Amino acid sequence: MNSQIFSNESVIITGAGQGIGFEIAKQLCVQGASVLLNDIDATLADEAAKKISQYGNCFSMAGDAADVLFINKMVDEAVNQFGKLTIAIANAGITLFGDFFNYKPEALQQVMNLNISGSFFLVQAASKQMKQQQSGGSILLMSSVTGHQAHKNLAAYGITKAALEMLAKTLVVELSPLNISINAIAPGATVTERTNEDENYFNTWSRITPMGKPATVADIANAALFMVSPASKHITGQTLIIDGGWTSVSTSPY
Ligand SMILES: NC(=O)c1ccc[n+]([C@@H]2O[C@H](COP(=O)([O-])OP(=O)(O)OC[C@H]3O[C@@H](n4cnc5c(N)ncnc54)[C@H](O)[C@@H]3O)[C@@H](O)[C@H]2O)c1
Repeated sequence: MNSQIFSNESVIITGAGQGIGFEIAKQLCVQGASVLLNDIDATLADEAAKKISQYGNCFSMAGDAADVLFINKMVDEAVNQFGKLTIAIANAGITLFGDFFNYKPEALQQVMNLNISGSFFLVQAASKQMKQQQSGGSILLMSSVTGHQAHKNLAAYGITKAALEMLAKTLVVELSPLNISINAIAPGATVTERTNEDENYFNTWSRITPMGKPATVADIANAALFMVSPASKHITGQTLIIDGGWTSVSTSPY
């Protein structure tokens, strides 16, 4: 891709202090975008923005991406800093594993609050701003292969990810007339600081992934950048799975 293809774009990305979101924010900055980087962990957010600032315009805003008042503040702040908002990426999401028969209401609520409600209201706030600008825009939601295939102990997480894919599909009705595209990407197993806490992660997923290894954060960021770039402008309401072929066979890691 052209190295400065995002130079007119200003971006909000949530949950980007590390992992997949960090890599997407970095690649966007490298390619010219101005980025508001959010994370709930203030230290992670600040350090991430500092690292990325060597490539371009990036500042951090720490806070809870599930909090609707905070979401609205992020949009206001992006507009204050950059003059506009053209790309929103609802990356923040939590995975609370748990046996279905003992899953607690509080755990379900927490997963739904961030994964569904936080994403929903970021899309709402961002698209209101884009509507006012009359500039169009691109929105990306972060799904998962668990929104497509059953995983033991991940029922709560899986249903939130499936919901996001339907959100992208359904909002085509409201957003297309405003020239705003909305899509989701669904990563499979991806090596991050979090998933690497399981020392068997790489070997397990290398064994059961047709391409022979789990994704890197760069694999996911490459797809994310395409989905918010002008090259994909006529794609909307879709989900792109990035999983090295895993959903075709869906071998259980257990
Ligand atoms: N890593 C994977 O294998 C994988 C696979 C499929 C989908 N995903 C999805 O991709 C996204 C990123 O995954 P990851 O593994 O890179 O993330 P991660 O678990 O490493 O978390 C990234 C960041 O999100 C922050 N965060 C947590 N709660 C937050 C909140 N309420 N508000 C703001 N920030 C918050 C954390 O502090 C962390 O720095 C998530 O939506 C996840 O569900 C990840």
